[in-house]
Amino acid sequence: MIVQHHVPLLAFNTFRIAATADALVHIADESDIHALLADPKWAAADKLVLGGGSNIVLTGNVKLLVLKVDIMGKKRVNETAKAFVVEAGAGENWHDFVIWTLAQNMPGLENLAMIPGTVGASPVQNIGAYGVELQDRFDSLDAIDLQTGHVFTLNAAECAFAYRDSIFKHAPTGLKDKAMILRVRFALPKSWTPSLGYADLEKKMAEQNCPQPDAQQVLRWVCDLRRAKLPDPSVVGNVGSFFKNPTVTPQQFTNIIAHHPKMVYYRLTNGDIKLAAGWLIEACGLRGKTVGQVGVYEKQALVLVNQGGAATGAEVMTLAKTIQHRVHERFGIRIEIEPVVI
Ligand code: EPU
Repeated sequence: MIVQHHVPLLAFNTFRIAATADALVHIADESDIHALLADPKWAAADKLVLGGGSNIVLTGNVKLLVLKVDIMGKKRVNETAKAFVVEAGAGENWHDFVIWTLAQNMPGLENLAMIPGTVGASPVQNIGAYGVELQDRFDSLDAIDLQTGHVFTLNAAECAFAYRDSIFKHAPTGLKDKAMILRVRFALPKSWTPSLGYADLEKKMAEQNCPQPDAQQVLRWVCDLRRAKLPDPSVVGNVGSFFKNPTVTPQQFTNIIAHHPKMVYYRLTNGDIKLAAGWLIEACGLRGKTVGQVGVYEKQALVLVNQGGAATGAEVMTLAKTIQHRVHERFGIRIEIEPVVI
């Protein structure tokens, strides 16, 4: 376990913002955490857990001790009457893990293909795409308490999953920066059926006259959809959706839709209505809007991109606040930033 000093974070955040960490340590195993806690200086330091850096915005140099998660390994660990249980180390690349499960004939994660980031980050924001959320396939996870070194297991209810949310996003009541996820287990259904409820997938099915796709077909469609709409973070710096889709009550919705009949929305099972934040931003004329090197992505207004390579966190936040302000001014709706701002 070696703590490095003044470490450039450019390669460790997918928005590709230049910032440094005062101190950074690679965690390959839980014994590295135990070694860290045995040193009083590092035991007392405030810590930041960093996975693939695909859901963070750096607004300056990081004074916290950065724990770069490099815990690897993936295997089938259990089998129930209904599901195969597979486990992956928190440092595994998410998309590679999805591909591996399909290659092992254990489908179920194909709708979540190509989401940037690591396995360990996937429960933190309860990643979701094309009608499936991580919580739909989640079994349990192991995490380590960053003060005591105690390893504990959480089931789905204990993770308090919600839309792009979990106990790991909250402080001081939750586990944000208090615990590090070590391993995540997924329950992949033995009697798999495709999840095709999302409009874009229904369109693909109709276009290609393929009413009963297998998992590999769904995987190809999801990858095609993402390539068409979302920037590849290895080419253009970004952190995926920059805002959450806001939810409104039926009363609020009736009022808003009367004034904006073309608004895109989805009805939730509890009666509330989720609005497409990308549509709201576009309707404010903000598609393509820039602040310095940061811009609203031309093909999907919910995504902010690093256009020149030298974007700063301050530019990102100025543009984000402008968008929030304009959407509120026009629609009376507050849209919430989705990534973690540091
Ligand atoms: N839309 C516009 N203009 C835009 C963007 C979207 O009008 O610029 C409208 C379109 O009508 C479109 C609808 O909004 O049909 C929904 O757009 P899309 O299917 O792209 O989905 P989204 O609601 O914008 C969410 C997730 C994405 C996920 C997609 C697909 C959130 C915050 N984002 O986006 O997740 O890939 O659905 O399931 O829920 C991420 O979290 O980083 C992410 C990319």
